[in-house]
Amino acid sequence: MDALITLLPGDGIGTEVTKGAREVLEAVAEKYQHSFKFDEQLMGGAAIDACGDPLPEQTIASCQAADAVFLGAVGGPKWSDPSAKVRPEQGLLKLRAVLGVYANIRPVKIYSELTGTSPLRAEILENVDMIVIRELTGGIYFGKKTRDATSASDLCVYTVDEIERIVRVAAKLARSRSSRLCSVDKANVLETSRLWREVTDRVMADEFPDIELETLLVDAAAMHLLSRPRDFDVIVTENMFGDILTDEASMLTGSLGMLPSASLGDSATGLYEPIHGSAPDIAGQGIANPCAAIASAGMLLRHSLGLEEEALAVESAISAAISFGARTADIVSAGESPISTDEMIAAIVNQLNG
Ligand code: IPM
Ligand code: MG
Repeated sequence: MDALITLLPGDGIGTEVTKGAREVLEAVAEKYQHSFKFDEQLMGGAAIDACGDPLPEQTIASCQAADAVFLGAVGGPKWSDPSAKVRPEQGLLKLRAVLGVYANIRPVKIYSELTGTSPLRAEILENVDMIVIRELTGGIYFGKKTRDATSASDLCVYTVDEIERIVRVAAKLARSRSSRLCSVDKANVLETSRLWREVTDRVMADEFPDIELETLLVDAAAMHLLSRPRDFDVIVTENMFGDILTDEASMLTGSLGMLPSASLGDSATGLYEPIHGSAPDIAGQGIANPCAAIASAGMLLRHSLGLEEEALAVESAISAAISFGARTADIVSAGESPISTDEMIAAIVNQLNG
């Protein structure tokens, strides 16, 4: 098949891990005889430096013309002054809004060889396999913001439509897995959460009576994620809770560098990004973990290009590289020596070709 993929390396380790995603996609194209064209564009801090805009028109046009968009990461200390007028993250939020990718899918997959790198005991991690569906284009991220000399506010808004559509995405996914869905809110305090719960209960009762629904308050969910992670299958939650809970969930896998994501809307163009950020503390050292980025490229093959076999091949290549002992610094255990980002990429590409 022919496909056009926009690459947005962004900032910090974003550029280092995007190289991995690209090399893996190139290897897939070669092996399965597809033709993927890549269009690399500026975004985030790199775009602010080049033209003062974290999401230039040209980047938007490229994304809109593409079959899929891959993003590395944005942000960094250079652009994070609290008084700055333009910020790299604004570009990311605008891109999510422009592409209408309201459903952010974040699978939490445990590699048994890596349980030693998680701060949790290995027996707690046995059989953990969950997917968090994070609402991505609403809530407090997108509400009106105010700031004056003595106060600031962020408005959190959700509409019935926004909740219905994300619950449907999550419930359909639950149906294809173990038919269990956990909805996370803060209905004991927030009005948006009370609406979330009401709409979720109704949609589930009317349209998905076969799915078992559990509802948790976000503070309790944060605790249960650590105490009984294997009880979760599909979790659906609002934008900010999903942001926080998925960084927490990444610790089940041992490293933030292992979690990929796919952001989907009603049109085909999806946005794929590792959930980690630009990691300024390790940027430029060639030691970042490319697994999350490469797994995101796998999700791109599956969700935007419909190439399931190729997506599975990428996932198997990551697992195999890990089984054979390939480890970047964030996932080494005592006695193992870490390899560089490029070596990890090469190990995964080798498995794919092998
Ligand atoms: C994420 C990130 C972003 C978010 C930041 C970089 C704006 O943390 O994708 O989880 O909060 O959505
Ligand atoms: Mg986050």
